[in-house]
Amino acid sequence: MKGVLLAGGTGSRLFPLTRITNKHLLPIGDRPMISYGIEALVQAGITEIMVVTGGTHAGEFLRLLSNGREHGLDLLVYGYQDRPGGIAEALGLAEHFVGRDSVCVMLADNIVERSIRPSVERFAEQSSGARLLLAEISDPAHLRHLGVPEFDGEGRLTRIVEKPIDPPSTYCVTGIYLYDSSVFEVIPTLEPSGRGELEITDVNNHFVSAGQMEYDVIGGFWGDAGESIDAYYEVNDQVRRSGANHP
Ligand code: DAU
Repeated sequence: MKGVLLAGGTGSRLFPLTRITNKHLLPIGDRPMISYGIEALVQAGITEIMVVTGGTHAGEFLRLLSNGREHGLDLLVYGYQDRPGGIAEALGLAEHFVGRDSVCVMLADNIVERSIRPSVERFAEQSSGARLLLAEISDPAHLRHLGVPEFDGEGRLTRIVEKPIDPPSTYCVTGIYLYDSSVFEVIPTLEPSGRGELEITDVNNHFVSAGQMEYDVIGGFWGDAGESIDAYYEVNDQVRRSGANHP
């Protein structure tokens, strides 16, 4: 399985911190944010990774990560997104890198307390389709900033609603997604959303409609350090207290 770590976008919700650097290079605990995503993938047994970035600070990723050996990677390649056209567009840049393999996609501003290895292993046993990692969030105000799954009476996913005014459950879709290579046939069929982006939620709803979407609810802390300056510091406090990516 390949790994794709998405580190593009403008980071506008963290302005002015992100005026002079890329969000994913900001410190969390004692390391730059992106190190945690690399560690999460390596810890799950994924050692061939593409980092997709964009904007004016892309060269800094090379300075930080180099060829990836220090981080336990066998292969590290870089992709460059010309403009922040959405998470699904950024993933599309990894098509040739992933080829016919399956892929674990991670948004580089997501930090998890516990290892994602169990989900990666379950997906390896799943013959095809996609798998989401969900986290339980009780605060509806928080859910309104995220993708939120809706379930039927038997706990099956019926759809995902991006940034819902009225959240249909108390779970969010984290920025960790597992796909088979058919995801690259879905991306070209997407239309830009109201905010002009190719949305990963549209990709996920494609797999939900096809009856090919499974999910796990992750235990321990999950945070999106790019959501707001408050969220950034909350994730920092959490990582300093309890660490991240525990096996
Ligand atoms: O963090 C989880 C949430 O991430 C999910 O619950 C949502 O369903 C999902 O849409 C996403 O929402 P965000 O509003 O947090 O996405 P954002 O636009 O902030 O992008 C998240 C990461 O994706 C960002 O850290 C870098 C990467 N990205 C984003 C865009 C728009 C790219 O690499 N390229 C892009 O063009």
